[in-house]
Amino acid sequence: MKTAASLLTLALVVPSALLAVAAAPLAPAGPPPPPMGGLPPGPAPLPPLPLGPKPPAPVPVVSKPVPQPPPPGLAVAKGGKFGLPFSTLTDSQKADFAAGKAEFLNIETVEGGLGPIFNDVSCVACHFEGGAGGASRTLVTRFGRLTNGVFDPLVELGGPLLQRRAIAPAYLEVVPREANVVARRITTPLFGAGLVEAIADSTISAYASVAKADGIKGRVALVIDPVSNASRVGRFGWKAQHASLDGFAADAYLNEMGITSRYFPNENAPNGNKALLAKADGVLDPEDALAAGAQKSDLNLAADYMRLLAPVPKLAPTVSSTKGEAVFAQVGCAVCHVPSMKTGSSPVAALANQPVNLYSDLLLHDMGRLGDGIVQSPATANEMRTAPLWGLRLRSLYLHDGRASTLDLAILAHDGEAKAVRDRYAKLPLASRQALVVFLNSL
Ligand code: HEC
Ligand code: HEC
Repeated sequence: MKTAASLLTLALVVPSALLAVAAAPLAPAGPPPPPMGGLPPGPAPLPPLPLGPKPPAPVPVVSKPVPQPPPPGLAVAKGGKFGLPFSTLTDSQKADFAAGKAEFLNIETVEGGLGPIFNDVSCVACHFEGGAGGASRTLVTRFGRLTNGVFDPLVELGGPLLQRRAIAPAYLEVVPREANVVARRITTPLFGAGLVEAIADSTISAYASVAKADGIKGRVALVIDPVSNASRVGRFGWKAQHASLDGFAADAYLNEMGITSRYFPNENAPNGNKALLAKADGVLDPEDALAAGAQKSDLNLAADYMRLLAPVPKLAPTVSSTKGEAVFAQVGCAVCHVPSMKTGSSPVAALANQPVNLYSDLLLHDMGRLGDGIVQSPATANEMRTAPLWGLRLRSLYLHDGRASTLDLAILAHDGEAKAVRDRYAKLPLASRQALVVFLNSL
């Protein structure tokens, strides 16, 4: 279903049902702009053309699917410098990367299982800045209800994630009025994700028990990996909610695209309405099934792509980035944003015993007012994973909901466990703050 040839056609033909929500009317061509003051007038208008034969009577227009341009994410990704494999892969790993990339770019169709409710039609539709797999400004919406300190993800009303699109307008979700917590989460980058996955659980746990300055704690997010069913140290997502790339991919297939798999076999019902789901969903679950004799389904291919995706390399140091790096350590940023960790063993040589310059401890920290209010077990409402800072220079909005448009504002919004460090930053001479920003933009 995902050959290169079918990919090409899929890129051009979007199922007609999608158009109901996907097609935006073209803006009518307005009158030409008035001439600008001081500029010489343009060429005189051409005389009207002589009238030709009368045009034939108009034929009634039957609406038919208009070929859709590929999603803008794909175009941006293609212009990006990143989205490349590690340079040291074997030939068979290179083939895995290529097959994975095709899947990561693949536009899902209703017949292939897309929907009935979904957020977008491909992974690259959201992950594209700097190359396929990058971050973007795309936000998703989470909701729930907090009553006397107890958080209810409102599963029976379609929570905790809102799907913003549907294969037909009748299935579109809304945030139910029962929700009193609504949070947005911005798309994170995936460059170097395979290295993050290859860090041993014990490496992350060991750092959690190290005593830290300024009352900073940090704890591991123990999660059940849906693929191995084992309890693992979470490290992916704003709340460190997943430990493996296959696990996150399976989650994204279901919750971003409405594609069920052997790990998440149950379709999301529109706002929890099972009767509506029965009407809406014509494709047998699991939609992303293993083909006879195959070891991998589409979600495993997408995970291969992320796993073999090289990190964004650091820029060469300059005088001011070197000064900024010293400030980063002095004020205490590096207590949470740990500059480097090391991977453990891995069947992929490019991932085994490698440094990972991610600038994160991958732990959950109570961020006070910066928390997003969503309880996502084991993370509490205020706990967030220390955001990795590598590749920061490719990004344009920061923090979990993209609230900060500059790095300076992102730092000043730190709270909770990071309050003392933030206050120290705020008191720095301007030149030191600027150098710190230069350093962050070199990662
Ligand atoms: C609608 C936009 C959207 C689509 C489509 C989408 N993602 Fe994401 N992705 C996000 C957002 C938003 C986050 C952060 C979510 C969070 O932590 O709650 C994210 C985070 C991730 C992460 C965690 C990275 C990290 O460590 O922070 C992985 C892995 C991932 N996505 C993989 C995928 C894959 C694979 C697909 C396709 C099957 C996909 N995504 C499709 C928006 C999207
Ligand atoms: C107590 C741990 C802690 C300390 C100390 C800390 N941070 Fe953070 N940082 C976090 C967490 C957690 C997040 C994610 C918060 C969120 O968005 O909800 C974050 C997010 C960020 C982001 C946004 C990244 C993104 O992907 O949007 C930047 C930039 C950043 N930190 C820089 C710094 C700098 C610079 C310092 C030192 C002045 C610092 N941080 C100190 C924990 C910490």
